[in-house]
Amino acid sequence: MRMVDLIEKKRDGKELSKEEIDFIIKNYTNGDIPDYQMSAFAMAVFFQDMTTVERANFTMAMVESGDQIDLSAIEGIKVDKHSTGGVGDTTTLVLAPLVAALDVPVAKMSGRGLGHTGGTIDKLEAVEGFHVEITNEEFISLVNKNKVAVIGQSGNLTPADKKLYGLRDVTATVNSIPLIASSIMSKKIAAGADAIVLDVKTGAGAFMKTVEEAEELAKAMVGIGNAVGRNTMAVISDMSQPLGFAIGNALEIKEAIDTLKGQGPKDLEELCYVLGSHMVVLAGKASTHEEARQMLQEVIQNGKALEVFKTFLSAQGGDGSVVDSPEKLPQAKFVKDIPAKEDGYVSEIVANEIGTAAMILGAGRATKESEIDLAVGLMLRKKVGEQVSAGEALVTMYSNNEDTQAVVEKIYAAYSIRKEPVTAPPLVYKEIK
Ligand code: URA
Ligand code: CA
Repeated sequence: MRMVDLIEKKRDGKELSKEEIDFIIKNYTNGDIPDYQMSAFAMAVFFQDMTTVERANFTMAMVESGDQIDLSAIEGIKVDKHSTGGVGDTTTLVLAPLVAALDVPVAKMSGRGLGHTGGTIDKLEAVEGFHVEITNEEFISLVNKNKVAVIGQSGNLTPADKKLYGLRDVTATVNSIPLIASSIMSKKIAAGADAIVLDVKTGAGAFMKTVEEAEELAKAMVGIGNAVGRNTMAVISDMSQPLGFAIGNALEIKEAIDTLKGQGPKDLEELCYVLGSHMVVLAGKASTHEEARQMLQEVIQNGKALEVFKTFLSAQGGDGSVVDSPEKLPQAKFVKDIPAKEDGYVSEIVANEIGTAAMILGAGRATKESEIDLAVGLMLRKKVGEQVSAGEALVTMYSNNEDTQAVVEKIYAAYSIRKEPVTAPPLVYKEIK
């Protein structure tokens, strides 16, 4: 087989066989296919797309390019949740203990990464002592015992994707549905999920700006998952404004605790019930979503979900007492309200502007080497649709630096206020199965 012939075949819109796709991924990973040929191939896929069968084969070839996590020693159906990313998305912190409280095993492999705030691991590290440097054996035994544990990303998970993603980044081929879908799904499958619930975000703060684009990506990922024997479904949810109130690491831990107590922001709580009930059904613990939702509400009301969160934090070295005393979380030196300049209704909060404001404060990493300040961030006091009077706080800013001019400017740039009443956007647009 020659790579040049396979590039030509895809360029001309023909379907590649499993053997051909395996050849490409294997030889690209080991260095026998050079970057320039793989770049041409990625561009051919960008224009010609892939069939569902090709997408599934491409995904599995990437899964098999590196380590696969064996979770078979964990009892029960392992359901993973993946979000395509947004601003202040606290759902994982809530969902992990929430569904674990219903005996759904949550074996989470997570990363740090770049972004407006840290990744799930950074957020959890806001709890004194918490760490994810545990062995695979400890990880599995913790999930069996407490139903939830988090481990750092294995070094050699989907190396083909890592290499290809780097190449796509510099060849204008990131924004291709088959390439994005196979990239995301390969990582979930290699991490050992039996079933997958996808939260595909749409809006200004998301990768997919319109509902149509989000739906196309969701269908592509659901198609791959189901074709390779992993029960997969997707929810398309709003990211035109940030989710919940908190954007920042310690602030989001506090928000997760509030939500697990039944006192969290309504949008975050609702999305957790929607995603959580799909996870519970896929795990075989309930037969309908209504039943699953009731079960989730019950473990919030009776305190079991919060108790599981506390046990989980302590089991990985964290100070579980933060659940009862959140003031033990890292605290910022300066706390300042940013007031509205006029009366009216909030008509827009551009999520990525708010995310950038949080990053400037130090809540996220601008480069791989940046240090995160776990204490800083923003609390939204007004969300889209709410009435506001001049002088009332739009946002509370938590900082460790006195000079916050650039942050304040970003916050004002993010908020729009109108005289006429405004309807809030829907939280969930669609479900794809
Ligand atoms: N996230 C991924 O993991 N891969 C992509 O290709 C795009 C976003
Ligand atoms: Ca939030």
